Amino acid sequence: MSTYEKTYQRWQSDPKAFWTEAARDIDWIKPWDHVYAKVDGLDRWFVGALCNTCWNAVDRHVAAGHGGRAALIYDSPLTGRKQRFTYAELQDEVATLAALLQDLGIVTGDRVLLYMPMIPEAVFAMLACARIGAVHSVVFGGFAPAELATRINDAKPKLIMSASCGIEPGRVVAYKPLIDKAIELAQHKPAHGLVWQRPELAAELTPGRDHDWAQGLAATRTAGRKAECVPVKATDPLYVLYTSGTTGQPKGVVRDNGGHLVALKWTMPNIYGIAPGETFWAASDVGWVVGHSYIVYAPLLHGATAILFEGKPVGTPDAGTFWRVIAEHGVKALFTAPTAFRAIKKEDPDGNFIRKYDLSQFRTLFLAGERADPDTVKWAEERLNVPVIDHWWQTETGWPIAANPIGLGRLPVKYGSPTVAMPGYDVRVLDEGGHEVKRGTLGAICIKTPLPPGCLPTLWGNDARFRSSYLEHFPGYYETADAGFMDEDGYLYILARTDDIINTAGHRLSTGGMEEVLAGHPNVAECAVIGIADQLKGQVPVGFVVLKAGVAREAKEIEAECIQRIREEIGPVASFKTVMIVQRLPKTRSGKILRATMRKIADREEWKMPATIDDPVILDEITKALKTKGLG
Ligand code: COA
Ligand code: AMP
Repeated sequence: MSTYEKTYQRWQSDPKAFWTEAARDIDWIKPWDHVYAKVDGLDRWFVGALCNTCWNAVDRHVAAGHGGRAALIYDSPLTGRKQRFTYAELQDEVATLAALLQDLGIVTGDRVLLYMPMIPEAVFAMLACARIGAVHSVVFGGFAPAELATRINDAKPKLIMSASCGIEPGRVVAYKPLIDKAIELAQHKPAHGLVWQRPELAAELTPGRDHDWAQGLAATRTAGRKAECVPVKATDPLYVLYTSGTTGQPKGVVRDNGGHLVALKWTMPNIYGIAPGETFWAASDVGWVVGHSYIVYAPLLHGATAILFEGKPVGTPDAGTFWRVIAEHGVKALFTAPTAFRAIKKEDPDGNFIRKYDLSQFRTLFLAGERADPDTVKWAEERLNVPVIDHWWQTETGWPIAANPIGLGRLPVKYGSPTVAMPGYDVRVLDEGGHEVKRGTLGAICIKTPLPPGCLPTLWGNDARFRSSYLEHFPGYYETADAGFMDEDGYLYILARTDDIINTAGHRLSTGGMEEVLAGHPNVAECAVIGIADQLKGQVPVGFVVLKAGVAREAKEIEAECIQRIREEIGPVASFKTVMIVQRLPKTRSGKILRATMRKIADREEWKMPATIDDPVILDEITKALKTKGLG
């Protein structure tokens, strides 16, 4: 039996004992009364325990004599800046910033919204919140004011922490006007703003609300004020991270403190094969779950060195950036989305840049966030000569559901599969009736409840939506909303979402949310948005709009407005570049839009005329419309 199998069986035979043992690697202020219990009908871990996430991520290592070890390396090809922070320096930054937050009246349980680029202050801010028990909610910088406003209304933050700007290749994105607009749109008004002024662009502060972050920090430092780690309940929320749901209203995924500490710490040696003191790089963004878990919390909890990279895989300055960072900082493992590798492969198909750098310390490449296409995996394997590990997880779980665990004896790779279920996850593939299907048969991928520590216990302020979104369709299971199958060896294959979520360049987006925005255009009567295959980004959204009767404007003009609307209301991250005006949308006789058939036509896949279609001719019209855009 492999080490993985033994470990999985050890978990299966006694989950509570398994997680109790894993919890020994965490510093607790008070031990738990129950390792697992149902509280108010929700599955909770380490009930009754007290802990502090920042202590475990920062202070603990300093107390253990590792204050001189590198905690965070900031490398920004977009600005040319590099900075290195030891654990002792990180402790100083975070404790001082936490004291500043306290001075602004932030106390345990308050929400603090972060709208930040990939700069060290983003990490300090997350940890400072954790230090005083405030709940951070990081919003990705590519989201527009309306999206930000929705999150402000839901999380009701007392404070927004931001920087004056983000930097994208070729443009500086002024953040302050976006935040001001969001606050104007939101019903909830945060009491304070704390703004980090970047040299690339200064922001104008709003009197009575905004404070200069650097000035506040300097004053706190001069006063010698530092905040201690505040004991919080293991079941208290550490953060809320919003992710796309099936409507324009995102889901506030809640992460607790205790379970998250235990689970993430366990993953570092067992899944990622990383030892304390080694350098781990997740090339994602702090606005996504990968950024929360594997840029910030897991590497720091493990006493490893984390890389914070402000750049792109290509163009900053070239397709060799990743290899430069790996060589320069001695990165042992890189974690990114397949789309980043597709971008590199396109620019440097022969891997010429790879040969320019000494990658002898580099051991493993991890891919997640979207399906890892075998071509890209093989390309990376051949050029890098290291194992390429696809693994599958979701914002909701916070850590991998399925992986090929490096620390538990790597299993053979099967291309197209993120390998096997990790301890903690009892993964089953079900049919519509909730019965398990035979191995090899396609079905809904579900996880027997309770979910393991670290996964979402609920949605922010909305237990009812948590239950209806995840638990009600298949009683006794958490519904992942991914469809796929498990083979005879227990390898999982994740093929598609069962809802209208798409994955664009590793970013999770709701086509339903985009439809809501298009429907708001004054000339649009109805619309549909589908995700179609894209060589670089995996999937991109494409819109179809039907105009209201009597609208006689230029199609081009309306299309441009639709594109602009999505950019302004959801954000550039939606990558919404194609929309076409059609006379009618294909529907079933009961009025359901046939999005799946439209997608197949656009992707040039084989498709069958749906038996329930109302008017088959409409599909010819859709095909013609797609052709005018070079699709289908
Ligand atoms: N702030 C403001 N705008 C942003 C942004 C941010 N933080 N991040 C992205 N955008 C903008 C981009 O500039 C782009 O704008 P454009 O339409 O004017 O060109 C748009 O949003 C789309 O971004 P993206 O889909 O990311 O495309 P890209 O061309 O900028 O980069 C990749 C493509 C593949 C290089 C990039 O997506 C990538 O590295 N992805 C993999 C890593 C990752 O973050 N994965 C997430 C989960 S692991
Ligand atoms: P997110 O919540 O943004 O992490 O997106 C989660 C979704 O991304 C999953 O539900 C899957 O649809 C998809 N996904 C993530 N990782 C993988 C993977 N390794 N293979 C296939 N799909 C993946």
